[in-house]
Amino acid sequence: MSTQINRSWQMSGFGLSRLSQTQGKVPEPGPRDLLVRTRAVSLNYKDKMIVDGVLIPDLTFPFVPTSDAVGEVVAVGGAVTRFQVGQRVLGQVIADWPDGDAPPVLHKHTLGSSLPGMLSEHVIFGEDAAVLAPPSLSDIEAATLPIAALTAWFALAEATRPVAGQTVLVQGTGGVSLFALQFATAFGLRAIVTSSSDEKLERAKKLGAWQGINYRTQPAWDEVARELTNGLGVNHVLEMVGGDNARRSLNALAADGRLSIIGLLGSMELSFPILPFMRNRIVVQGLSIGHRRAFERMNQAIETLAIKPVIDTVFGFDEVPQAMQHLESGPFGKIVITTS
Ligand SMILES: NC(=O)c1ccc[n+]([C@@H]2O[C@H](COP(=O)([O-])OP(=O)(O)OC[C@H]3O[C@@H](n4cnc5c(N)ncnc54)[C@H](OP(=O)(O)O)[C@@H]3O)[C@@H](O)[C@H]2O)c1
Repeated sequence: MSTQINRSWQMSGFGLSRLSQTQGKVPEPGPRDLLVRTRAVSLNYKDKMIVDGVLIPDLTFPFVPTSDAVGEVVAVGGAVTRFQVGQRVLGQVIADWPDGDAPPVLHKHTLGSSLPGMLSEHVIFGEDAAVLAPPSLSDIEAATLPIAALTAWFALAEATRPVAGQTVLVQGTGGVSLFALQFATAFGLRAIVTSSSDEKLERAKKLGAWQGINYRTQPAWDEVARELTNGLGVNHVLEMVGGDNARRSLNALAADGRLSIIGLLGSMELSFPILPFMRNRIVVQGLSIGHRRAFERMNQAIETLAIKPVIDTVFGFDEVPQAMQHLESGPFGKIVITTS
């Protein structure tokens, strides 16, 4: 096995110009590991932040970025019992969080941050940190699930329980937000989507959005959200931006509303007044993707609810820099790179 070549994209430093294709040996699986031939890898906004040196400034090089991949098990360690050669699997990104409470120190064993990333033809998953890919999805579709879908699922279905008829507001039309829109719609929630583009809002409506608000032309989108809900406010906001945007999110919320802190598209800090939290008894929760059990439950729901991930663009393995650049453009859904 180790004589085979393994092509990867590796960072030798920060910046896209220091991301290059390399050839190494195919890794050997340890006793409880799966060797996986990847088929597709999806990008997340944080991959750009890692390549740019914003998210993990003390990263050690060389480093293979990205966290989400689907592939086929091509070899297993001698003690593996959960999987077999030939199965199609996805990696559990927070590899040491199978269920229940998160590990005391999060991200000590996370794919594409403290563990090597997925931009390789062959990767290793621990057998406890892998799930079967949903059979109804293509490789390109399945590769989008490990971070974006699981984060949206966790926010809507694990950290709380969806109540049909309630309202949820999702910000932007990137990976996490469109999964949130699709899950919310499937659960019978009324989803309000904000976007910089009317054209994207039209597309969001075709995916089930109840209402759309253009946050460029209507910067006071929180007031519009209140009007749309007869002055009551929305029950749940998925905060994707941070900074002052969170003040508007708070204002958009109904009494006993929930604010899920997920994204930092605009700022690494949050800013809001305290009194509305008390007055409206707002629940705030930070999210960090999710555990493997939730991933398995989500995959089952994806099958039952016939959810199809929204793909923005697919790139080839030789086009990784272009794919990373495309993240800048504000994708509608997910960017995927095929690896075979
Ligand atoms: N906490 C977690 O576990 C977790 C997990 C996954 C992602 N995240 C974070 O969540 C955020 C989104 O991630 P992603 O991978 O879904 O990103 P993405 O796919 O790159 O989505 C980007 C989209 O966000 C929208 N956007 C950008 N600036 C905005 C603003 N000021 N207001 C509203 N929308 C804005 C744009 O939509 P329009 O063009 O429609 O405006 C853009 O298309 C990132 O900060 C990421 O790091 C956190």
